[in-house]
Amino acid sequence: MSRPPHPPARTANGAAAFVLDRPVVADGPSCHRLARKAGTLDVNSPYAYLLWCRDFADTSVIARRGGAPIGFVTGFRRPAAPGTLFVWQVAVSPDERGRGVAAAMLDDLVDRLPVDHVEATVTPENTASQALFTALAARRGARLARTGLFDVEQLGAGHAPEVLLRIGPIDRPRPA
Ligand SMILES: CC(C)(COP(=O)(O)OP(=O)(O)OC[C@H]1O[C@@H](n2cnc3c(N)ncnc32)[C@H](O)[C@@H]1OP(=O)(O)O)[C@@H](O)C(=O)NCCC(=O)NCCS
Repeated sequence: MSRPPHPPARTANGAAAFVLDRPVVADGPSCHRLARKAGTLDVNSPYAYLLWCRDFADTSVIARRGGAPIGFVTGFRRPAAPGTLFVWQVAVSPDERGRGVAAAMLDDLVDRLPVDHVEATVTPENTASQALFTALAARRGARLARTGLFDVEQLGAGHAPEVLLRIGPIDRPRPA
């Protein structure tokens, strides 16, 4: 099931705009490729992305330009707290960054899911990721709380600690 394009399918100068869509199983290999290209993500198996696109498509989103995947968000509603959307991974193709693709994907999920909090983990040195979630909290007039979640001992040597960001409660609808 495709969702209506958001933002519009053409920009003011007539170039193809990106559209947001529900992932389908055939998007699994593209998500795996985008995760590899991202450079800062833990790259999961091709199988994991296929399974995600099959079973968590409702809580995930893919951005396409001219039909080609340029970014994705994988997420799920926490089983023990369904009002919380946990954002597992966000990736935007390096040549598409800085154009609001990641922000639009997060807004799409928050707008259409019955959630009032968003969680994600970030590593301390990932400034782009920190900025992405800080901007989401600011757009929604929500608090952003930081707590340690997984430490180096749990994640293994060579992996930076993962800090939990919890954003909410989120204003619905979005403030003008
Ligand atoms: C993080 C990432 C998804 C951002 O994607 P993007 O489409 O470029 O982000 P957007 O253009 O939507 O920007 C959203 C906000 O983050 C800010 N931001 C994005 N990249 C930034 C950077 N490198 N440095 C500082 N701020 C940045 C933007 O300024 C914007 O904030 P604003 O609304 O206050 O101006 C992208 O850099 C990426 O794929 N990185 C590699 C994978 C990764 O680290 N993912 C996050 C962890 S799961």
